[in-house]
Amino acid sequence: MNANFIPQLARIGALAPSADNSQPVRLRWNGQELSLHYAERHAGGGVFDADSHATLMAVGAVLENLDMALAANGVAADWRMGQDGGQPYATLALPRLPARFSAPDGPLLRHTNRLAFRATPLPADLVSQLGLGDDGALRLLVERGQRKRLVRLVRLCSEARFCNHALHDWLFDSLRHTPQQVARGDGLDVDSLGLPPGGRQMLRFISHWPRMAMLNRVGAYKLLALSEVKLIAAAPGLLCVSGGGDRASIIDAGRRMTRAWTALNLQGIAAQPYYVVTDQLNRRRDGTLAAGFDGKMAAVERELAELLGLDRGSMLHMVLRVGYPADPPLRSRRLPLEAVFEDAGAA
Ligand SMILES: Cc1cc2nc3c(=O)[nH]c(=O)nc-3n(C[C@H](O)[C@H](O)[C@H](O)COP(=O)(O)O)c2cc1C
Repeated sequence: MNANFIPQLARIGALAPSADNSQPVRLRWNGQELSLHYAERHAGGGVFDADSHATLMAVGAVLENLDMALAANGVAADWRMGQDGGQPYATLALPRLPARFSAPDGPLLRHTNRLAFRATPLPADLVSQLGLGDDGALRLLVERGQRKRLVRLVRLCSEARFCNHALHDWLFDSLRHTPQQVARGDGLDVDSLGLPPGGRQMLRFISHWPRMAMLNRVGAYKLLALSEVKLIAAAPGLLCVSGGGDRASIIDAGRRMTRAWTALNLQGIAAQPYYVVTDQLNRRRDGTLAAGFDGKMAAVERELAELLGLDRGSMLHMVLRVGYPADPPLRSRRLPLEAVFEDAGAA
């Protein structure tokens, strides 16, 4: 048996995307089974817990990366999914392992690009070849009027986001400014954000919540939301991932998002997720919206359902801005393997 197979497999799982690169999961190997668990890592705890939508999307992304790696090595992936609200999220028995591990290209290549994209439209044949047509669960908006409507909703949700104290703290806890902070391997390197000149200073200025709250009284959140939608408004395509809202469906949406994102990156097409619409609508349901936004978010929800033709019980899980990249981005790092993988079988 190849003793390195499982750690190499875990490394591919750990390359999966997560909100603000929070990497909220850990893999455990007991010599026979691999299991996926929640890991509380973020100082701004409580914003995304073990059963939050964002964490379940990341769980789906890790499972998809693992399945791509297992398929590349000819191993069947018959996951046993955990109970609602329980741990682990999923368990996989691996009684026989191949002698060698082959790393799949897709998960190594997939990444977030927060820089501007070219305006070149995506070729229609490629769109249908990638299954990004109009199947409901995965829908690419290319028509200008539809894109404009969605961008407006992103802007309104961004306004609500910039007024939310808990989300403000979460974001600023995620930012990594110095080489030492970046070397930790989690969170967002400010150099990966594609900030305009003066953007770093601006970030520092608004990092103090009482100051931000004061500026919001004179409409700062509206200006920040406007600048937040500049790039998404110019993108040739907006990929919408939707589906059911129960735990299994959210994990599936995380898988679907990762599969499409990986396929796009393999074709040289860049992508950047915009989570703010889903997040604000979830916060409306949980009662954790900033004060004064309930009515606005209810209106966003109605318009979104109409724009995307969402059935009752169906929700938007993610929007991705997609297009041909103008420049390669700075890639996010990952935590050291020992922080995300425990080999209990080796003990
Ligand atoms: C649930 C979820 C929400 C995300 N939201 C955003 C977002 O709103 N804006 C953004 O630029 N990236 C977003 N991302 C991308 C992550 O920041 C990114 O995956 C992470 O930093 C790791 O970088 P990588 O994708 O290049 O590997 C999101 C990812 C996930 C899974």
